[in-house]
Amino acid sequence: MNSNTGKGLSVKLGTIELKNPVIMCSGTFSSGIEYNDLYDVSMLGAVTTKSFSLVPREGNKPPRLCETPAGLLNSIGLENEGIDFFINEHLPVVKRSGFTIILSILGADAAEFTNLATKIRKIEDDLLAVELNLSCPNVEKGGITLGSIPDEVENVTAAVRKILNIPVIVKLSPNNNNLAELASRAKNGGAEAISLINTIIGMAIDINTFKPKLGNIIGGLSGPAIKPVAVAKIYNLYKEKILPIIGMGGISDWKDAIEFMLAGASAIGLGTVNFVDYNAGKNILEGIASYMGSKNILNITDIIGKVKVR
Ligand SMILES: Cc1cc2nc3c(=O)[nH]c(=O)nc-3n(C[C@H](O)[C@H](O)[C@H](O)COP(=O)(O)O)c2cc1C
Repeated sequence: MNSNTGKGLSVKLGTIELKNPVIMCSGTFSSGIEYNDLYDVSMLGAVTTKSFSLVPREGNKPPRLCETPAGLLNSIGLENEGIDFFINEHLPVVKRSGFTIILSILGADAAEFTNLATKIRKIEDDLLAVELNLSCPNVEKGGITLGSIPDEVENVTAAVRKILNIPVIVKLSPNNNNLAELASRAKNGGAEAISLINTIIGMAIDINTFKPKLGNIIGGLSGPAIKPVAVAKIYNLYKEKILPIIGMGGISDWKDAIEFMLAGASAIGLGTVNFVDYNAGKNILEGIASYMGSKNILNITDIIGKVKVR
């Protein structure tokens, strides 16, 4: 680890304080336990868990992954072992390992989110924040279906906020064109930050079999292919000054991370890159620190939203 790493890297998103802006995206790092065998995951700003639902979900039928030029299509369908599994099996291990955890949750409606929050209340002191996945394109109920309706975004956020004392983050979809309205409604409901972007709806077809390459027919596109879309969405939302943003979508290296922060992200999320380089979190954190040294940037917060457009 570079000796500069750690200096001037802390960021704040509302009341959420991070020792550095590097966060692992939901669904691409599990709860961090396996990666901790490869490097010290506690060095990261935070790990966002896979989205957990009230009861276990089987997910969508295979194939669930398909590579595309500079991208990855997935239709996992939020397979997970259920919130009790996280509480009983993952949480004791991540506590011992010292990770900072953002727990991602998914429900079909406000009632299910309320039930999830009620279960989480007893462990909330062990979490930095809870992230509401209102943006998955691969499920019939909840996800983007819920996260596209402004009233639902506010209701779900308020329902969780009423029960939990920890900060609430709302994760929105780039497939929506009214992101400012959705973010405002999340803020009305009590959210402290917005995560942006989840995957972009996509499809691929096998020209020999004439069949879709994913069992679910459509999926969500992630990876470098979506980076410019993410940068534009973050730039546009940042200008509205509604809530701090955790920016994600195609970040591959520290240069991308800096670009996202210049566009307006207060922290950055790493997703698909973890499948390409399991050390991505460590490398990107070190790269950001070296960049700060070379540019004489004392605090990383000094570059947030500082893209020069005129
Ligand atoms: C295999 C896979 C699984 C994912 N699972 C989730 C999930 O459970 N919850 C969620 O909010 N986002 C999920 N995502 C979306 C990512 O968290 C992230 O928002 C998106 O992939 C864009 O970032 P990236 O291009 O760096 O991967 C998943 C993405 C991938 C590729």
